[in-house]
Amino acid sequence: MHVLSVSSLKGGVGKTTVALGLASAAFSRGLRTLVIDLDTQCDATTGLGAIGEFSETSADVLQSPRHNIVHRAIVASSWGKNQPGTIDVMVGSPRSQSHDNPYPTVSEVWRLETALTKVEREYDIVIIDTPPSINGLTRTAWVASDRVLIVSEPSLFSVVATDRTIHAIEELRKVLTPRLGVLGILINRLKPAAPENEFRVNELRERYGSLVVPTQIEERSSIQQATGSGRAIHSWPGANSQEIAGQFEEVLDFALASFANQSQRRPTRAERKTQRVSRIMRGQTLDQVLEFENQPEAEEGLES
Ligand SMILES: Nc1ncnc2c1ncn2[C@@H]1O[C@H](COP(=O)(O)OP(=O)(O)OP(=O)(O)O)[C@@H](O)[C@H]1O
Ligand SMILES: [Mg+2]
Repeated sequence: MHVLSVSSLKGGVGKTTVALGLASAAFSRGLRTLVIDLDTQCDATTGLGAIGEFSETSADVLQSPRHNIVHRAIVASSWGKNQPGTIDVMVGSPRSQSHDNPYPTVSEVWRLETALTKVEREYDIVIIDTPPSINGLTRTAWVASDRVLIVSEPSLFSVVATDRTIHAIEELRKVLTPRLGVLGILINRLKPAAPENEFRVNELRERYGSLVVPTQIEERSSIQQATGSGRAIHSWPGANSQEIAGQFEEVLDFALASFANQSQRRPTRAERKTQRVSRIMRGQTLDQVLEFENQPEAEEGLES
C-alpha cells in the first residue's frame, strides 16, 4: 500500500480536483483505491458521490483510530456503481476542525498512520486530500504518507506557499518519518494552448528544477462538470475530459515510479539512523516508537 497526500498551503489551487483525478486514474487502472478526506469542507467526499449521514467519519478516526471506527468511516464511492473494482472514501467531516491544532502533539499526528495499519492489506493506493494549511490535519496526513504532491498555480504567485510547504515536509521528515518525501510540484490549471504556458512552466522549473512534475494539468470545464456531478473524470464523456484523464494517468505513473524507487534507493547515513523509527511505525504504539527513538546511538551498530 502506498500513501500520497495532495497538499498546498494556498487555498483553491486544485488539491481536491487533483486528488480526485488521481483517484479516478488509479481506479480505472484497477488499483484498489482509498481516498481520505481530511478537509473540513468535505469536497472530496462529495466529489466521490458519498453523500448522507455517516455514523463515523475521519474526525472519529482521528479521535480514536480503532479497527471498527476506521472501517465504519470508510464507505464505497458511487463511482464504483458502473465499473468493477474498489474505490472507497474515508468520509470527511466539519468536526475534523477540532483536530486542526496549530501545535499538534506527536501522538495526534500519528493517528492516521495508526488507522492505516488497519486497512493496509485492503488497498493498493491511498490518496489524502488535505486542507490549505499546515496545522494538525495536514501534518497528520503527511506522517501517514510516503509522498506529498504539492499543487501549484501556473505562476510564481504561489512560490511562498510552495517554499513553506517543502520546508515543512522536510522538517517532519527529519524528525518523525524518513520515508516521507516530496513527490513533486504539480502545475494545475494551465490554459490549453496558451502562448505563455512554456514561459510559466520554465519560470517554475528555474526555481524548483526537477521537482516540477513533467506533466501539467490543463484548465478544462469538464473537470468542474464531472466533480460537480459526483463522477470520475474517466467516466465523463467527451474528448476534452479524456485528454484530462490522460494527464492524470501520467501523473499517477510518475507517482507509482517514485513509490517503486523508494524501496530500492539506498538510504543515506542520516536516514539509516531515523529508519530505526520508521521500520516499526505501523502497528506500534507511540510510546514504543519514542522509546526506540531515544535509544542511545551506540546501539545503532547492532543493526544489520
Ligand atoms: N484543471 C482545472 N480545470 C478547471 N477547473 C479547475 C481545475 N482545477 C481546479 N478547478 C476548479 O477550481 C476550483 C477550486 O479547485 P479545488 O476545489 O480542487 O481546489 P482546492 O485546492 O481543493 O481548494 P480548497 O483549498 O478550498 O480545498 C473548483 O471549482 C475546481 O473545479
Ligand atoms: Mg479542497
